[in-house]
Amino acid sequence: MLLLYAISLGGLLHPVLAQLSLPTSSWLPPNSSAATQSSNGTSPNSQWVTTLGDLLYFYDAQRSGKLPSNNRVPWRNDSALDDGKDVGLDLTGGFYDAGDYVKYTFPMSFSIMSICLGALASGRGYDLANQTAFLDSTLRWGLDWLMKAHPSPNTFFVEVADGNVDNNYWGGDRTIPTPRPSYQINSTSPGTDAAAQGAAAFAACSALYNNRTLSASSSTSSLQNSSYAALLQGHARDLYSFATGARMQLYQQSVPTAGDAYASSGYMDELAVAAMFLALSETNSNASTYYADSVKWYYSGDLGSLLQAGQETVFNWDSKTPAVPLLGAALANAYPNVVSGSNATLNTWQTALENYFNVFINKNGRSFLTPGGLLYFPGDSDEASLNPALTTAMLMTTYAATGIQSGQMDKYRTYAQGQLNYAMGKNPMNVPYVVGLHPNSPANPHSAISTGWVPPNPSVLAPTNYDTDPPQEAYVLYGGVVGGPDTRDQFWDLRSDWAQNEVALDYNAPLLTLAANALLIGSPDPYYTQVQAGSYAAVRPSGYPCDAAVTTGCKHSGGLSTGAQIAVGVVVGTIGLMLVAGAAYWWWVKKHSGRGKYGY
Ligand SMILES: *[C@@H]1O[C@H](CO)[C@@H](O)[C@H](O)[C@H]1NC(C)=O
Ligand SMILES: *[C@@H]1O[C@H](CO)[C@@H](O)[C@H](O)[C@H]1NC(C)=O
Ligand SMILES: *[C@@H]1O[C@H](CO)[C@@H](O)[C@H](O)[C@H]1NC(C)=O
Ligand SMILES: *[C@@H]1O[C@H](CO)[C@@H](O)[C@H](O)[C@H]1NC(C)=O
Ligand SMILES: *[C@@H]1O[C@H](CO)[C@@H](O)[C@H](O)[C@H]1NC(C)=O
Ligand SMILES: *[C@@H]1O[C@H](CO)[C@@H](O)[C@H](O)[C@H]1NC(C)=O
Ligand SMILES: *[C@@H]1O[C@H](CO)[C@@H](O)[C@H](O)[C@H]1NC(C)=O
Ligand SMILES: *[C@@H]1O[C@H](CO)[C@@H](O)[C@H](O)[C@H]1NC(C)=O
Ligand SMILES: *[C@@H]1O[C@H](CO)[C@@H](O)[C@H](O)[C@H]1NC(C)=O
Repeated sequence: MLLLYAISLGGLLHPVLAQLSLPTSSWLPPNSSAATQSSNGTSPNSQWVTTLGDLLYFYDAQRSGKLPSNNRVPWRNDSALDDGKDVGLDLTGGFYDAGDYVKYTFPMSFSIMSICLGALASGRGYDLANQTAFLDSTLRWGLDWLMKAHPSPNTFFVEVADGNVDNNYWGGDRTIPTPRPSYQINSTSPGTDAAAQGAAAFAACSALYNNRTLSASSSTSSLQNSSYAALLQGHARDLYSFATGARMQLYQQSVPTAGDAYASSGYMDELAVAAMFLALSETNSNASTYYADSVKWYYSGDLGSLLQAGQETVFNWDSKTPAVPLLGAALANAYPNVVSGSNATLNTWQTALENYFNVFINKNGRSFLTPGGLLYFPGDSDEASLNPALTTAMLMTTYAATGIQSGQMDKYRTYAQGQLNYAMGKNPMNVPYVVGLHPNSPANPHSAISTGWVPPNPSVLAPTNYDTDPPQEAYVLYGGVVGGPDTRDQFWDLRSDWAQNEVALDYNAPLLTLAANALLIGSPDPYYTQVQAGSYAAVRPSGYPCDAAVTTGCKHSGGLSTGAQIAVGVVVGTIGLMLVAGAAYWWWVKKHSGRGKYGY
């Protein structure tokens, strides 16, 4: 371990570690006008290559720190070069979280874990698209920073910059407000969830760089690098030991400001997922020990109940439970020696996972489909509605990619494809919800970095009217997945509406996996090639949305829409259930109100 930290220190001195060499002519997003053409059966499918490439490009646009000489985003500048100085460390680098300039470790590490999870089963899709070098540079940009944020075994930085200050600022990357304080968890002020989530990200990506796979049919991408994998593994083990060895508590108890945006609702799911990824990434006898740990957290945390109809918890930055049975099943399938000796078998996990998926297939839970067909979780989907739908589709698709035998698999594939089609433009708005991909794509992502608004003087932090100043965003934020429409599939494309229009690291992650899988299995064109340019303008709703970001519409809408009434009904029912279940409801409310605060 000392050796590993020595290597890590080397990383500090040379922030850009060697990585796969990028293609000589660097890939750039094409003009969106190309999206209305069929790919004419090219292999790999050229439209899916564009989608995958754009989605990865978004992460380049979100980079913080000193940009490398091969930076692909011409309008981005070096930024936040003093991060960490307040604590005598180099905490430059990493990614800005969303439409703002804060670095939040909890969702950042979740996003990276999610990308590695997807690549463990569908990674060859990146290879087919010649995007593996960009996958590598994206992962390393995040992981190298997470290593800096973990300078000693029991210290982990969970936020850089104060979100409540940063959210008032709407200018570009050269005048980001300072100071940007660094917030940590440590032995005296621990955070079980944040430490375990960090461990999960390191272990998931260590497994990927170590050529482990969740698929029996070998679709791992060609990222193999055993020395980088070992570096990541050292951090994974130490963070897991920190999470399990220190007093167990939510990380926002130690760092309340992080809870203003990303309050965690529990830590058993992070512990179970971290142990599962460690079981996958360890190649020695300790793998079985980590597996047994995961089984222990799963049962002692009663995580199985969260998967049942009526609760059917989402998979997102706060809630990782649905990944536990998926990982358990995939691990038992691909590495049966690791799980032998445990009472939790392939069958245990497969049953739990399929029962969970079947809630969506059978529509017998709290979630419902919007009239246009988007999977909607009351509460969880009220801001960024696409995310829970796409993460569900990503889990189903990843399950299918494991090659595990199941009579249900075709149903899951079809269901996931439906959600993917919706995001790619098969919806009542005719909008593919990825910036810059199609002429109908959102033109007004809620993103300070892309608007091009310039403060008239340093004391003015934001324009009076976000939607009209400037009239057009200065830069196209190619590849950014926006929040998404409301319960009635309505989408306004308003820059001020962070509930519908914000971009974020975690919004892109599931679509990345779905695009890689589409390439892997040779899917036909993404739905957007069939979407007429200009057909959004014809159906764009008048008036205003009614959500947490924009209240204008709520005054004029004359009461709740049918969809909202259904949602309220389901929420009330759910509240009843949850009150019986105990404190879970308060976690839910806190989480829900949490994300709302970080719009601006
Ligand atoms: C593997 O990763 C290490 C550590 O980042 C790096 O020094 C080395 O150049 C990489 N090797 C290849 C072949 O990319
Ligand atoms: C894309 O192409 C169209 C027409 O071919 C052109 O009008 C538009 O300016 C281009 N957009 C960008 C961002 O280059
Ligand atoms: C597919 O073929 C059509 C008809 O020949 C052509 O107009 C279009 O540009 C082609 N698409 C691509 C992506 O080359
Ligand atoms: C990927 O690169 C190979 C080798 O340079 C090339 O033959 C192939 O056409 C490329 N594929 C795509 C989708 O760019
Ligand atoms: C980067 O700097 C250039 C000027 O050098 C400026 O025009 C551009 O807006 C800056 N980018 C951002 C995102 O602020
Ligand atoms: C440990 O973390 C707490 C909470 O972030 C912080 O107040 C304290 O200063 C940290 N301790 C050390 C020794 O840095
Ligand atoms: C990675 O694993 C696959 C089997 O899953 C194997 O075919 C391939 O040769 C391995 N690659 C390396 C570099 O070890
Ligand atoms: C297994 O983990 C223990 C600590 O939990 C460690 O002491 C031991 O060296 C590990 N074994 C291997 C083979 O890595
Ligand atoms: C496995 O054992 C745990 C106790 O360690 C128990 O709670 C659980 O129900 C058992 N699971 C199965 C599938 O038997």
